[in-house]
Amino acid sequence: PAPGWAIDADVVVVGSGVAGLTTALRCAAAGLATVVVTKARLDDGSTRWAQGGIAAALGEGDTPEQHLADTLVAGAGLCDESAVGTLVTEGPDAVRRLIETGAQFDTTDTGDIALTREGGHHRRRIAHAGGDATGAEISRALVDAVRSAALHTVENALVLDLLTDAEGRTAGVTLHVMGEGQHDGVGAVHAPAVVLATGGMGQVFSATTNPPVSTGDGVALALRAGAEVSDLEFVQFHPTVLFLGADSEGQQPLVSEAVRGEGAHLVDASGTRFMVGQHELAELAPRDIVAKAITRQMQLHGTEHMYLDARHFGAEMWEQRFPTILAACRAHGIDPITEPVPVAPAAHYASGGIRTDLRGRTTVPGLYACGEVACTGVHGANRLASNSLLEGLVFAERIAADIVANGPRTVQAPASEIPAAGSPAPSPLLAPEVRPQIQRIMTQGAGVLRSAASLATAADELEALHRSAAVDAEAAEPKVAVPGVEAWEATNLLLVSRVLVAAAREREETRGCHWREDRPERDDETWRRHLVVRLTPDRQ
Ligand code: SIN
Repeated sequence: PAPGWAIDADVVVVGSGVAGLTTALRCAAAGLATVVVTKARLDDGSTRWAQGGIAAALGEGDTPEQHLADTLVAGAGLCDESAVGTLVTEGPDAVRRLIETGAQFDTTDTGDIALTREGGHHRRRIAHAGGDATGAEISRALVDAVRSAALHTVENALVLDLLTDAEGRTAGVTLHVMGEGQHDGVGAVHAPAVVLATGGMGQVFSATTNPPVSTGDGVALALRAGAEVSDLEFVQFHPTVLFLGADSEGQQPLVSEAVRGEGAHLVDASGTRFMVGQHELAELAPRDIVAKAITRQMQLHGTEHMYLDARHFGAEMWEQRFPTILAACRAHGIDPITEPVPVAPAAHYASGGIRTDLRGRTTVPGLYACGEVACTGVHGANRLASNSLLEGLVFAERIAADIVANGPRTVQAPASEIPAAGSPAPSPLLAPEVRPQIQRIMTQGAGVLRSAASLATAADELEALHRSAAVDAEAAEPKVAVPGVEAWEATNLLLVSRVLVAAAREREETRGCHWREDRPERDDETWRRHLVVRLTPDRQ
């Protein structure tokens, strides 16, 4: 659709979690005309929901080297060691700068930052806020800073496509904006630098910890723009999500790893701990191992969930340390002070995404990616707990520094309002009703447990949805879906699902959070490598 309005800027940041707002604040502080666009309200993304915290070697005796070692083990052979080195070395100062920006972390009696443990960490290195409301506090502090910096923000703005100039360089984005006065309807922000910080894609599955806005919009845009995307098969399933019933769909309440970090036990219905003896860290093994162990127990016992038992914390600790989780459990009729909490794995985090270098640059000039939408190489095949807020923070600062160093360039007039030559044509718009079908197909075929057969079925069913949309779009009287946020989200969900399933089929091994029942072993000889996807028009 042709834009009805346009804004000119030096940089446009798409997304308003820790990655997007940190980038925007740093760019604006350096004097760049910075516009932040976000799909819902400024604090509606995933950052706000983060519970456990942010990992950094801040404690006495801890070092970036130890943090690096734990990250590499969790990443199951696919981390980029230089990216991890950057993350863990620059992390502690980045957290201190976040504190200067206004974020208030919990402290000990002596005034030091209080640190907890989570899966895969051999030390206490997770800083937290409000007990178990770390993301909410980070989001509050960054939103406050953005408002006082008087940054230009456009809310309720779904990003559609990348604009490029005649040389194929980034020239801005098109947006669909709902109900924002002068910026209503389809418009564009013209800028020589675009930073995608749109978060994850948990909504491709029926049950996820991700908020409804996590529909893979950034990855879908990047694919349509011809950027490289890597490691999409590595979807992390959080082991302990409050079990609300097999039919429960959409965003589910998380029960943070920090609950296990403080000593909670995973038990079966008879109260027997099943992680002991499976891994030296027992309940604090990396989360792919815990998610698999829970799934195996569920299969063994023919049940839909296991239990997390933290009754021994007592009321005071539950109320002070985990108030958010306590309230969520009680809202669903479960009291963790007196009874074990039913938990099961649910989709949580996209370890892969748009491939970037250490400055956050993608393979399209002028296009950057930051946070969950990016694949910087720090997570490999399985992200270490609480490294995601840190990644957003560290790489946001690096991206801002790169944009500032390059200086604002004059934007040439966009060659077209859809991606330029060499990029694929947009997919036909899907009807929003397709969304639950995609989620069902993905959950059954490409969930925590995968096989060649389940993935083949998922691929066939997704292709059938794609074909029927394409055939319909070319019909004499097409049943055109009404252009709107829900239709574009469904279209994005289908595109990222197709690419994810194709990668999961190709990777014939089990590694990190990619679990193939038919290929249960890790195969380093063939598969210690990344699957990188770059769409050409005929693969759409
Ligand atoms: C949690 O609190 O368990 C989530 C932490 C994370 O996903 O890094």
